[in-house]
Amino acid sequence: MPTKVKEFKSKIRGADVILIATPEYNLSVPEALNNAIDWASRPYGDDSNGKPVAIVRSSIGMLGDARAQYHLR
Ligand SMILES: Cc1cc2nc3c(=O)[nH]c(=O)nc-3n(C[C@H](O)[C@H](O)[C@H](O)COP(=O)(O)O)c2cc1C
Repeated sequence: MPTKVKEFKSKIRGADVILIATPEYNLSVPEALNNAIDWASRPYGDDSNGKPVAIVRSSIGMLGDARAQYHLR
């Protein structure tokens, strides 16, 4: 596992809650965020599950990030 991913997972482990602020890219979440979630979800047995998560938008579009937030949930 890359060092950056280990650091990322360590930060998640040490947090009380995760706040995700995301824009909407092509009707979903940006790939960088998707990749981060994918990395955090592995390996089996240490998958960063169980943390409370809050999500907020950072898009200025008319639908206000609704589709990205739907996918994120
Ligand atoms: C590749 C790309 C795709 C985007 N797709 C959407 C979209 O589907 N819906 C939307 O409301 N905004 C979309 N946007 C606008 C972003 O959500 C955001 O509001 C805008 O990029 C400003 O943020 P930024 O300066 O961090 O890129 C897109 C922007 C980019 C660069």
